[in-house]
Amino acid sequence: MKVAPFVLTSFLLRFTSVSSLSLRAGDKTVTVGEEHILTYDLASHESSTAGLVRGRKLVDGKEYTTDTDFDRGISVNVNHDDTNDQLQLDSEATPFNFIWIPISNLNLVVKVDTDTGDILGTYRTAPAGASGDPSRTTVDRDGSVWVANRAANPGTIVHIGLKENNQCQDRNSNPGIQTSNGTDPLGWTTTGLTGGDPGVGNAEDECIVHYTKVSSCGTRHLSIDAANNVWVSGIGCGRRWDLVKGGRFDTNQSGTIIRSRSGFGYGGYGGLTDPSGIIWSASPLLRWNPDPAPGAALNTYDHDSYGLCIDSQGNVWNTALYGNAIRKFNSGGVEIGTYPHGYNNAQGCVVDRNDDVWVAHSLISMSINSVGHLKNDGTHVGNVIVGSGPTGVSVDRNGKIWSANYYDGTLSRIDPNGGAAG
Ligand SMILES: *[C@@H]1O[C@H](CO)[C@@H](O)[C@H](O)[C@H]1NC(C)=O
Ligand SMILES: *[C@@H]1O[C@H](CO)[C@@H](O)[C@H](O)[C@H]1NC(C)=O
Repeated sequence: MKVAPFVLTSFLLRFTSVSSLSLRAGDKTVTVGEEHILTYDLASHESSTAGLVRGRKLVDGKEYTTDTDFDRGISVNVNHDDTNDQLQLDSEATPFNFIWIPISNLNLVVKVDTDTGDILGTYRTAPAGASGDPSRTTVDRDGSVWVANRAANPGTIVHIGLKENNQCQDRNSNPGIQTSNGTDPLGWTTTGLTGGDPGVGNAEDECIVHYTKVSSCGTRHLSIDAANNVWVSGIGCGRRWDLVKGGRFDTNQSGTIIRSRSGFGYGGYGGLTDPSGIIWSASPLLRWNPDPAPGAALNTYDHDSYGLCIDSQGNVWNTALYGNAIRKFNSGGVEIGTYPHGYNNAQGCVVDRNDDVWVAHSLISMSINSVGHLKNDGTHVGNVIVGSGPTGVSVDRNGKIWSANYYDGTLSRIDPNGGAAG
């Protein structure tokens, strides 16, 4: 349950009854004619309307330039308030208010509203009859989620787009996007894995956009690189690594393996890609640059290694399953220190907006059900009691910490400023 740092790479505008539209993105002016939906890629300055036109086209030929015009649409990460009567990018991109929680034994992943706690959607991670047991989820740079099915042999990954960000694929003949809006998943009975791109078979949920067989088994590692592609590995089948092309369903080659290599005997558990593009993967810990400069180091470590998280300075933190220890490494892979975090066992960790570290403990022993809180210098502040079996922790856009509690199937939300320990 790692949340990639949110980087605004594109934005979406959706107008329900617009014939043409001009808008400003940074220093660029984009004019769209007779299209209702625009996505705009900030890296390439390319806008795309392919496959996106829905509903009616009006023929009034009006150019939309006023606040009132813009209020007719839905905008993501743009506003007309910084300067009125024009659209501009928000000065800071707002992450979506969603958290994704795998329900491992049911082959489901649930999308939860972090502001209200409401369940917004429930999705199958594999077709009926296929192995699943999803455990790790990773949000990509566009806010969509990738989930690894660790019981599949070889492993599979599934990609679920956001209806809110126009990432779902209108595959059936019914108008609009058919997708789960609550606790009931839509059906999925055939794999489609041999049926060609994007392999989702007959998944009825049109926000399930990719389903890909990878080379590893026990697949748990999913991390997003700078190009929004996904590195995948696992602890079985040679811990092989695959780079899966990311992006929306209509991105060329998306959902397919574009690079693959043998494993290192290290890594394949949860992990992350740091801002320099270096992969950190647990159990035992691997630090690997997939695009190495000549002579670049490949680091392997033999300590008990479980959850990984990264702070704003690029230090990487690694919990140990046993022994009340979390290690802090600088971005170069050198250990800075090992710190107690409040309990003998630990699983996931996350760093909050204050660069404090939160550690889930734990699935292994139920004598304590808590999340440990450390300052960035390793000082243990205290433990916050949560539901039974906390395994994963995450931070939402409001800076609150979420804990997924395995045994009682609950989520706990911690206010970091709420008490002595949080
Ligand atoms: C949720 O989905 C169900 C089943 O597709 C549909 O009947 C219902 O109208 C939807 N509810 C909302 C609020 O969209
Ligand atoms: C898709 O990508 C492949 C590989 O880079 C390339 O050969 C092909 O021309 C691309 N197709 C389109 C439609 O861009």
